[in-house]
This record gives sequence, C-alpha cells and structure tokens, in this order.
Amino acid sequence: MAVQAGREHWGSRFGFLMAAIGSAVGLGNMWRFSYLAAENGGAAFVFLYILMIFVIGMPVLLAEMAIGRGAARGPIQALGFYGGRWWKSLGAVFVAAGFLIASYYSVIAGWTLRYTLEAIFLGFAEDPVQHFDSIASGWDALTWHLAFMAGSLWIVANGVTAGIERTAIVVMPLLFVVVCALSVYAWTLDGSAAGYVYYLSPRDYTEVFSREVLAEAAGQAFFSLSLGMGAMLTYASYLERNSNLPSQATIIAFSDFGIAFIAGLVVFPLLFALGLSEDVGASTVGALFITLPKAFLELGVAGRVVGTLFFGALVVGALTSLISLLEVVVASTVDLTSWDRRESTIRAGIAAAIFGAPAAMSLGALDAMDQVATNLLLMGGGLALAIFTGWVMRNPEGEVTAGAGRYRWFGLWVNLLKYVVPVVLAFIMIGSVPKTINAVLALFE
Ligand code: PFF
Repeated sequence: MAVQAGREHWGSRFGFLMAAIGSAVGLGNMWRFSYLAAENGGAAFVFLYILMIFVIGMPVLLAEMAIGRGAARGPIQALGFYGGRWWKSLGAVFVAAGFLIASYYSVIAGWTLRYTLEAIFLGFAEDPVQHFDSIASGWDALTWHLAFMAGSLWIVANGVTAGIERTAIVVMPLLFVVVCALSVYAWTLDGSAAGYVYYLSPRDYTEVFSREVLAEAAGQAFFSLSLGMGAMLTYASYLERNSNLPSQATIIAFSDFGIAFIAGLVVFPLLFALGLSEDVGASTVGALFITLPKAFLELGVAGRVVGTLFFGALVVGALTSLISLLEVVVASTVDLTSWDRRESTIRAGIAAAIFGAPAAMSLGALDAMDQVATNLLLMGGGLALAIFTGWVMRNPEGEVTAGAGRYRWFGLWVNLLKYVVPVVLAFIMIGSVPKTINAVLALFE
C-alpha cells in the first residue's frame, strides 16, 4: 500500500469525525441554509435538500474518503496514484480551489471574530448597517483577516493530531451545545411561532421543483459538505485502513444537516419575535452581520449574551472549516516539496493571506472569488471526481469496503457516481456560468 513513512493518523474515530464535521459545519450552515430554506419553499426545500445530500452529497463524500484513505496522500498524489499522471491535474485544481476559498473565507471569518469580541467588550453597534459597512472592507478587514489566518495556520502547523484533531474535539461539541441552547432560548421568546411557520411551512410546491431551486439545493449540499476540492479526501488520508467509511460518511452528512437545521431554529424565531421579518429578504452575507445584530441589540443584556454565543459559534464553525481548507494546500505542499509541515504551512499560509487581501479590500472582489470557487471549481471538481471514481478508478469497491466488511449500497453508489452526479452537477454549472462571469466582469467596470 502507498502509505508514506511516518505519516500521521488521527488519534481516534471521534477525533476524525469532529474534524470532518468541523470542516463541513461553517458559515454555510449558520445562515445560508436557513435563508435558502425560507426563501425557497420551507419544508419542501428541506426535503429536497435531504434528497440532494443522498443523491449527490454522500456519493461524492464517500468517493473522496475512499480515494484519500486508499492513497494516504494529499489530492494531487492521491489522484496520480489511482489515475496516473493526467489525473494529477484534477488534484491540482482541488488544491487551487482550497487555496482560493481559504484566502477569502478568512476575511469573512475575521468579521465573525471581530463581532464576537465587540459583543463581549463593547456591545452591538447602534447602527448595524453603518457598522457593517465600515468594517467589511478596508484596512480593518485586512487586519482581522490576517489575525484569523495566523491563528488557523498555527493550529495547522501543529499537525493533524496535536493541532487539528485536538482543536476540533474541544470546540465542536461546544458549538453543538451552544446552537441547541440558542434554539431553546429562541423558542421561549414571545412571537417566535411566526418564525417557525416562515421557516418550515411548505409553501408553493411548484416553485420548489424549478431548475433554480434544485440548483440551490444541490449547490448548498455540496458546499456545506466541503466537497469538490479534496478537503474530505485529505482528512480521510489520515485514517487507518480499518475504518468504516460508509458509516462515517453518514454520520458526517447528518451532523452537518442537523446543525444547519437547528441554526434555522435559532435565526427565524428570533427575527420574527423581534419584528424583523421584513429584513430577512436581504440574502447577502450582510444580512447575517446586520439583521441579527439588530435583534441582539434590541434584546438588551440577554441579547449581548446570546449574540456573543451566536457569533462565537460562527467563529468556531469558520475556524474548523478554514483549517480544513488550509490542510488541503499544506498536505500537498508536504507531499511535493522537501519542506516539512511547519515550513509548508508558513509558506502556503503567507501566500493565501496575501491572495485574500483583495477580498478584504473590496466586497466585489470577495463576491467574485466566491462565485468562481463555488460555482465553477467546486462543482467542476465534484463532477470530475464522480467521473473518475465511477468510470476510471480500477477497484472502487475494494477501497470503499476495506474496514466496512461488505458495502450493501455499493451498486447504487457507483451508479449515482457514474450517471446521476455528473448530470446534476453539469446542469447546475451550466446554469451558473453567466452569473459567475458577470461577477468577475463587474470588477473591471
Ligand atoms: N463547508 C463549509 C461551510 O459550510 O461553511 C465551507 C467549506 C469548507 C467548503 C471547506 C469547502 C471546504 F473544503
């Protein structure tokens, strides 16, 4: 087997699960999911989303895990190991996507850290719109971006078990407890019921089965599970050969969905109880940083505590996701150069921090980077990986079943990868190309 001498392994199954769930749970869960559900038909969207998790999310997640564990290398070497030289370039696209997403994700993560510390020491700003405008881009945003990046790099530099796993084991259970506690708090507020109705009552079914909504559900399933850029592949490369991949993939996917769902049970009851339902329609990241702080401000002292916990949970989600993005780049740098982990982390991290500077200086640049990364790179990466596993890889069954005994759903899994995932992802990608090109062109106007 292609196991590198001295390559680290996760200390425990729980540690791996916390790290992988940490990668999946992030900014995408705490706001984007609930917003999409509310806008696109409530419970009907939630149902469609779960379907997408089964049909495209879990198959690709399991493919990434099987390849990563089997090759015990970062994405470039792993795809080269199974597919030969040409497939290495897909690994290179993965690493480029990880690098690009890490560079701007850290800017948004910087905002969450700033909001958390402000909530603790200063309270929420009186004018949240003006406050967000003043901190979202410019030198301040750059400083917080650099600070967040430095902290994340420090964890990655400490290694898989001592850095990534240890952090995830401590912070992920905390995040879960906090989000659950906040949902109970939101339930106690007068007027919260209207929030549940808005979030979950099935509305127009015809609307739900449109092309756009399908694309939103599939895209969200993909982004939320950190797929299409080798993050799960890289994490699985530190697994022992005897781990049961299908069962772990199932736990990861359901935990990710669970936290997204519960976050919605915090956000909507809270906003409706405070009469801020009008503001919900603003879909941009701004809504998370403007509308919710408005609610926390109105709740007085309790709001300050709840707001600190909410933004603190966002910091944790963003941190554990950013770590996984950086790990993709670092693992590949370690594989391909003579630098050790520490040197690789410092060099890759400085490069990503610099590359993220435009996103810190301009919201337009941040948006364009996000669209290119998620609409083109992640989708394209997932599509190519599905084709690779379904059609090119020689013995996917052997790789996925090692440690699992028999995999009952193997036939279904391979057929989804061969036929369904490529078609669904191609369909989504084609639909989003014009939007993505416009976001990039807008930068040059
Ligand atoms: N899954 C993360 C979220 O939902 O916020 C985002 C993400 C992290 C995407 C890591 C891709 C990735 F590799």
